[in-house]
Parts: sequence; C-alpha cells; structure tokens
Amino acid sequence: SLDAAPFLPDTAEGRSDLDELRRAAAGCRGCGLYENATQTVFGEGSPGGRVMFVGEQPGDQEDRKGHPFVGPAGRVLDRALAEAGIERGDVYVTNAVKHFKFKRQEGGGKRRIHEPPSAAEVRACRPWLLAEMRLLDPDVVVVLGATAGKALFGSSFRVTKQRGRLLPLPDLEKIGTPAAGRELGAEPPERADTQIVATIHPSAVLRAEDRDAMYAGFLDDLKVVASALG
Ligand code: URA
Ligand code: SF4
Repeated sequence: SLDAAPFLPDTAEGRSDLDELRRAAAGCRGCGLYENATQTVFGEGSPGGRVMFVGEQPGDQEDRKGHPFVGPAGRVLDRALAEAGIERGDVYVTNAVKHFKFKRQEGGGKRRIHEPPSAAEVRACRPWLLAEMRLLDPDVVVVLGATAGKALFGSSFRVTKQRGRLLPLPDLEKIGTPAAGRELGAEPPERADTQIVATIHPSAVLRAEDRDAMYAGFLDDLKVVASALG
C-alpha cells in the first residue's frame, strides 16, 4: 500500500537531521503524487523553531520553486505572523503532503488546478511529517485547515469546532487514528508539553466573500499561538 516509510533515513540514535530528511524526501515515491509534480517540497525554517505550521500540500508556485508557502497563501500567512508578533526565526513551515496534486484545466490549458489529496495520500506522506515533528520538537504545532487537522487527529477533526484553543498533541503512535480524534475532548495540555492550535487555511481567506472578517479570525487564532509561546 501507499507509504513513505521505506524512503525515510535511519532515524535511530538521533543520527538523522532535518537536512538529511529533506534529501531523502527528494526521492520519495511513497505514493503516486511524485509522478506529475515538479519536485518534493519539504518543510523549511528555523531548526530551533518553537512553532511548526502544517499546511495541506504545496501549491502551484511552491511546486515550481521548491519552497513551502511562497505563493498567495504564504503572503497571507506572513502578514498574520507579523501582526500576531510571531518571529520568523521561531517558525518552521511544512505541509501534510509534500507533493502538489493538481489537474489540468479543461481543454488542455496550461493552468494547473489544485486538487485535495486523498486520505490515502495523506496517510502515505505522514511519516515525513512525524519525522519532522520528532526532530523539531516544537512547543506549538499550528494546524492550518482540515487536511492538516485530519492528518494529525483523524477523520473526526473539524476546524470550526477545534480552532483557536489549545489542544493536546496525541501520542505520535496514535496520530491520524480515531484514538487521536478521541483525545480532542481531553483537557488542554500543560504548558510544558507540545500544544496544538488549529485554525483555517490561509487560502480560505483569499477565497472568502468577506476576506476582512476571515482574516481577522485567522489573526485571532495566531494570537493564541503567540501567547502560548509566551
Ligand atoms: N498551501 C499549502 O497548504 N501549503 C503551501 O505550501 C502553499 C499553499
Ligand atoms: Fe512521498 Fe509524500 Fe510525495 Fe507521496 S506526496 S511521493 S508520500 S513525499
């Protein structure tokens, strides 16, 4: 079945670091998405970053440039980070799925239209996300939208229900399973543990009829992140 695990480097004894993971991910064929995409877009940012942002998958520009959140959604995120007072040096950004999934415009046009990854593709790619999380060991993980939420908490995750408050990080062994979803009802975690804050995906701001209200809600959620960082 689809799985990135065979492509991961040996992570025993801390012998792997984020650069080694990135090099290995460049050759991943854990699911079919590598076939049509330009390249693997791995996570990037400060290796000492205390906050890890998890998006869905690279978009068109990210796929071409090879870096996460460098297109329109990235500009919304950058603005909100600055306004919430979260420092760039504290941030690592990545995606639940590392390859761009798209379809060609009807009639053979050049435009590539984003398609959401399937649950099987999210599951296949999850070993990379877990490895990044283990190595970075962030204080706060920010879930950007439903795909990232389901990648961590399983299919019962709902952004509208979970956004803007501190959630516990499930045991890494349970991540993505129904057991992780059941932990969403648990008490907010102690500050010493990794905390999760869920919010909307920044591209939802761009699609919204009332962009200002959508952006204001996004910024409010990032202020919860900023205060968790202290
Ligand atoms: N949307 C995402 O979820 N991730 C990116 O890197 C860019 C757009
Ligand atoms: Fe591997 Fe993830 Fe790319 Fe699929 S999407 S080929 S699992 S890196």
